[in-house]
Amino acid sequence: MENLRHLVLLFHLVGFAVLFGAWVVEAFGKHRITRFMNWGLALAGLAGLILAAPWGTDGDMNYMKIGIKLVVLIVIGALLGIGAGRQRKTGSVPPAIFWSIGVLTLTNAAIAVLWQ
Ligand code: HEM
Repeated sequence: MENLRHLVLLFHLVGFAVLFGAWVVEAFGKHRITRFMNWGLALAGLAGLILAAPWGTDGDMNYMKIGIKLVVLIVIGALLGIGAGRQRKTGSVPPAIFWSIGVLTLTNAAIAVLWQ
């Protein structure tokens, strides 16, 4: 069970890497929203929800931390959706939306690692 939990954590981290990596590429590029960001978010979110259940671990779950991460993830998802819509209509993503996606993704990783 513990090994399986670690495997799900690996998928969770791959999701984070895909989302943040795709965003960094665009931060140094055209500031667009790409499908890799959506895939990364979906993978991180799905694996995160599976990890949110108390299985394969002896430690106590910090549900305050998990709840905040879930809210942040939903906000990132909304920004990806709104940003992609604006990109379709006007050809560009408003800077506030684009930068918030990266900052909030890093915030979620920071909450995960620094809040023990
Ligand atoms: C963009 C969104 C997210 C990012 C960037 C992210 C990032 C991370 C990172 C870097 C870790 C590893 C921390 C460590 O092992 O010390 C982690 C662990 C974890 N994440 Fe996330 N996360 C996100 C969304 C979520 C969501 C939505 C949930 C649940 C609803 C969640 C639940 C968890 C749990 C429970 C762990 C701990 C796993 C364990 O120790 O067994 N995450 N996350």
